[in-house]
Parts: sequence; C-alpha cells; structure tokens
Amino acid sequence: MPGVADLAVRCAGVALRNPFLLASGIWGESGESLAGAWRAGAGGVITKSIGESARAGYPNPTVEAYDRWGMLNAMGLPNPGMDEYPREIAVARAAGATVIGSVFAGEADGFARLARRMAATGVSAIELNLSCPHAEGFGSEVGSDPTEVERIVRTVVGEVAVPVVAKITPNTADPAALAAAAERGGAAAVSAINTVRALAIDVRLRRPVLAHGLGGLSGPAIKPVGLACVWQIFRRVKIPVIGVGGIATARDALEYVMAGARAVEVGTAVAFDGIGVFGRLAAELSTLLDELGYRRLDDAVGAAHAGAGTPAEPI
Ligand SMILES: Cc1cc2nc3c(=O)[nH]c(=O)nc-3n(C[C@H](O)[C@H](O)[C@H](O)COP(=O)(O)O)c2cc1C
Repeated sequence: MPGVADLAVRCAGVALRNPFLLASGIWGESGESLAGAWRAGAGGVITKSIGESARAGYPNPTVEAYDRWGMLNAMGLPNPGMDEYPREIAVARAAGATVIGSVFAGEADGFARLARRMAATGVSAIELNLSCPHAEGFGSEVGSDPTEVERIVRTVVGEVAVPVVAKITPNTADPAALAAAAERGGAAAVSAINTVRALAIDVRLRRPVLAHGLGGLSGPAIKPVGLACVWQIFRRVKIPVIGVGGIATARDALEYVMAGARAVEVGTAVAFDGIGVFGRLAAELSTLLDELGYRRLDDAVGAAHAGAGTPAEPI
C-alpha cells in the first residue's frame, strides 16, 4: 500500500510533485521521452545537455554496462544543438512536464547565450553541466576551478530570470568549494554528482573498452561518492542540494536526503529498469517515510547531520 507521507518539495524555487528528477542524458533526448518519464511519475525531467550547435559525440563503443556496479560511458555530449531542441521541450511541456533544461559550453559567454535561449523555451530552471568528465574543453574541464564556476554562474544568473542549478563534478579534491563558488555566483541550487572518471580495459584487444578511453562511471558503485559530496556540500552552502549518483531504491534516495539533498536525480536506474522506476520509487519512498515517522520528506533533509561530525573522543 502506498504511504501517506508528503513527497512534494520546493527546490531552487521550483515546486516538484515528488523529489525524483530524470537525470540529464538518460532517456531525455526527445520531447516524447521526457514526456514519458513525466507520465511515469517523475517529479520533473532534465533534458540531455544541449550545446550551441549539433554534436555527433564520440565513436562507438560509448557505453559499457557493468551489471551490479552501473555503467561506464563516454558519449562525448552528442546533442541536436540549440536550434533544434526547443521543439522537443515544447512536446514535453505540452504533456504538462516540469522541465529543467541542461546546457553545456566552453566558457561563461557561451553558457549565457545558451541559457538565454533555453530560458526562452519556458523551462522551469536551467542546470549548467559543469561536470561531464570526458568532453575536452567542456564539463569538468571548465567546472573544476572555483573561480571559473563562480564566473560562469554569475554571468548566466545575470542573463536569465529562471533559477540556475550548477552541476558539480566529484573529480576534484574539494567539491564543496565548487558548490560554494556556485552559491557566490548566485546559483539557486547545486546538483551533485556527475559521473566519476573511470576506465575499463579489454585485455584481449589490449586497449580501453570505450573508444574514447576514459569515461564516466555511474550507477550503484558511485552512490557512496555522491553521498560524501552531498554531505560535504550541505555543510558548506545554504542553497538547496540535489543529490545524484546510484539511486535505484527509495532507501538510496532517503540516504541522499538525510545527507542533505532536497531533491534527487535518477539516471542509470532508468537505463537499467525503464521509466517505470519513477512510480515505484515515489510509492516506496512515502511508505518508507511513514515507517520512519516522517510526515513530509522535507523534515528528513539533512537529518543525518544531527549529532554527526563532532570530533569523537580519542580512544
Ligand atoms: C549515458 C549517460 C549520459 C549522460 N549524459 C549527461 C549529460 O548530457 N549531461 C549531464 O549533466 N550529465 C550526464 N550524465 C550524468 C548523469 O546525469 C548523472 O549525473 C550520473 O549518471 C550519475 O547518476 P546515476 O548513477 O543515477 O546515473 C550522463 C550519464 C550517463 C550514464
């Protein structure tokens, strides 16, 4: 029986019917697929990261699935470009979906130009991909330096009226410093994490499995990494945190919420289990909250920090 706990949350100024957002790059290429995730029960949908012009991405193989760990990918940010994409967003919005537009660029002005065009499509918020680990000149290459993150966020925030979310990379010594930079720049929220830089080798071919060589790891293997990032970011910033990385069950999501996330994104679990995962996650989460005595999801945000982090007595 579904629980009665209230899953509706407000995050980055956006009202979400539940905290489960479709993560960027999985299932979100077309308006119809975004609409499908919404109809399946997602609290909101994030588009594939869109650049100024169409991009083919890397040659195959670009994705390798590893059963229990998750997936390794180096797609190379393939996307139809901003001239084409507004029509896809229109399809998703016509279905009633709460849409967040993800964009990537190589520098602040490029982000600002794209964000302006993305905002004009009617999206509820914009997520800046400052964190893709395998696209030369983009993603974490521009998003690993706090000064650059602050500059990009500030430039975009000055250009658009919708809330701006900065998506942070875990491939750095201090992800919370990047989140703090995004906050200084005026971000309405930060999302963490993008994929973890990773490699697989095919010993028979004596070469990396993915054509690009290095890729990004997602799925269950990265949940503890994502949790640690969200935990550290929650302690450093006041803006809401959106947790992402390895969420496949309601319990995974609640771990992120207790670490400090106000909403979560789900990617690899959608690739593995299909969009039906959204309805299941929402039903399971409200039951779990009932069991734990929470009437609202909001009440559990950051719950794991109470009493934690105080230095233990030396033993
Ligand atoms: C195939 C694939 C493509 C992705 N494309 C994007 C993208 O375009 N933009 C982005 O910000 N993140 C992208 N991501 C990262 C996801 O949005 C998410 O941050 C990451 O996969 C961790 O969440 P998960 O473990 O639930 O998949 C991609 C991930 C995968 C597996």
